[in-house]
Amino acid sequence: MLAIRLVGGPERSEALALPIRPAGTAEDGAQGATVLPGLPALADDVLAEAAALAPAARATGRAGEVHVHLRPGRVPARLLLVGAGDGDESGWRAAGAALARSASGETHLTIMMPVDVEPDAVRGLVEGLLLASYRFRLTEAGESPALAGVDVAVGDPTAYADVVERAEVTARMTRLARDLTNTPSSVKNPQWFAEQVEAAVADRPDLRLRVRQPDELAAEGFGGILAVGGGSASGPRLVELDWHPADARTHVVLVGKGITFDTGGISIKPVPAMKLMRKDMAGAAAVVAATLGAAALRLPVRITTLAPLAENAVSGSAFRPGDVITHYGGVTSETTNSDAEGRLVLADALAYAVAELKPDLLIDLATLTGANMVALGKRTGALYSDNDELAADVLAAIDAAGESAWRMPLPADYVEYLGSDVADLYSAPNQGGGSVLAALYLREFTGDLRQRWLHVDMSAPSWADGDAAELTRGATGWGVRGLLRWLATLG
Ligand code: BES
Ligand code: MN
Ligand code: ZN
Repeated sequence: MLAIRLVGGPERSEALALPIRPAGTAEDGAQGATVLPGLPALADDVLAEAAALAPAARATGRAGEVHVHLRPGRVPARLLLVGAGDGDESGWRAAGAALARSASGETHLTIMMPVDVEPDAVRGLVEGLLLASYRFRLTEAGESPALAGVDVAVGDPTAYADVVERAEVTARMTRLARDLTNTPSSVKNPQWFAEQVEAAVADRPDLRLRVRQPDELAAEGFGGILAVGGGSASGPRLVELDWHPADARTHVVLVGKGITFDTGGISIKPVPAMKLMRKDMAGAAAVVAATLGAAALRLPVRITTLAPLAENAVSGSAFRPGDVITHYGGVTSETTNSDAEGRLVLADALAYAVAELKPDLLIDLATLTGANMVALGKRTGALYSDNDELAADVLAAIDAAGESAWRMPLPADYVEYLGSDVADLYSAPNQGGGSVLAALYLREFTGDLRQRWLHVDMSAPSWADGDAAELTRGATGWGVRGLLRWLATLG
């Protein structure tokens, strides 16, 4: 990961970035861009040159705009003007992302920030730099950017150490979730995923990890995880990771869908729909990474994270459409369509959390339905909760972190569609509203935590078709940023 250093003023000067912003508001008729005032220890001639450059380059100051100016034989050799927009955190995040791309050929970059800049600006800038410079190590090894170090000049570095740490942990964990999700399923089976978690906690004796093997899942009655994982040569697992600081007053359980490949099973997916199904564990990746991040930041909240892991394969031992399975705790499902497998593994984990862990709050993240994208497009998760306050808090954190979700309804009159003649529940009623019905099905497993449960269907935003601001093509690590923000508000 790119090394970020806070410095008082510019120390190295191969390439120097100066922030600009729109010159005025649309109302006052001002046009163009101005260099932000208060840049620490900057030579007057460089400042004068940058001020003259902005109009010459037709700069607008829009967030993420970059103008590169070459100064052969002089110091600095390259001057980059970067738009910070309104100067809020998201504008600075876009600026950081744009700089990571524009300066990817530099080995070192110095970014000037105004002396009294808000901590959130530095946080956004650093997150943008670290997220946009991500490359997946397996498939893009040859494309690694040259940029290895960035100095951020802020006047008083000590004032920003805290926000830089938060930004670095957030970005590191988002990048971990991207790595896990991008990994091909020829490598990534349930055991592999569990081993990655083991490796991540190896130097953290204060994190407790238990990985249940298939025989233990059978002994304890995790029928949903066993049914879905039963068709694969790589058996299922249940990861249970616990961050339990002494000063915790709130206990959150996070659950993430961990299907390491989703063929659809006997209800097999057509080729185009199956192509990207290695991403079907993005929910598990996000909750594990967020928990590791919370531990790295020593957030004073207890977090137990459950990742039910299985490969939904096609074989003679695969479960069938119409099978009746018994979940943890005894509720039964008629499985109707083996491609609705995510809810079956989540049902076990939710039921286990309610019965055994008894947390204050229960959150699950899952790449659950294609209907998420039909309803909300490619960037926005579908959020469900009966708890208005919890929904508002989580939505606010997601938004502040630069992710996107939209609250969806849980209509009472759809619940009847979940009725089955042969089991307690029908897993995938074909009544439209696929994301909504999946959420209603999950809610049946929340028991007395029904009012303290929140679910996000993140099928759509878990993947990016191309690079866009801080997102890089492929896995986005969606959910890590929003969860960490929200967890940091709990005490
Ligand atoms: N993993 C898929 C959902 C998905 C689709 C994630 C596209 C990411 C992108 C899930 O297991 C699934 O197959 N859902 C079905 C449910 C249906 C059978 C009720 C779907 O959405 O079609
Ligand atoms: Mn499926
Ligand atoms: Zn799936």
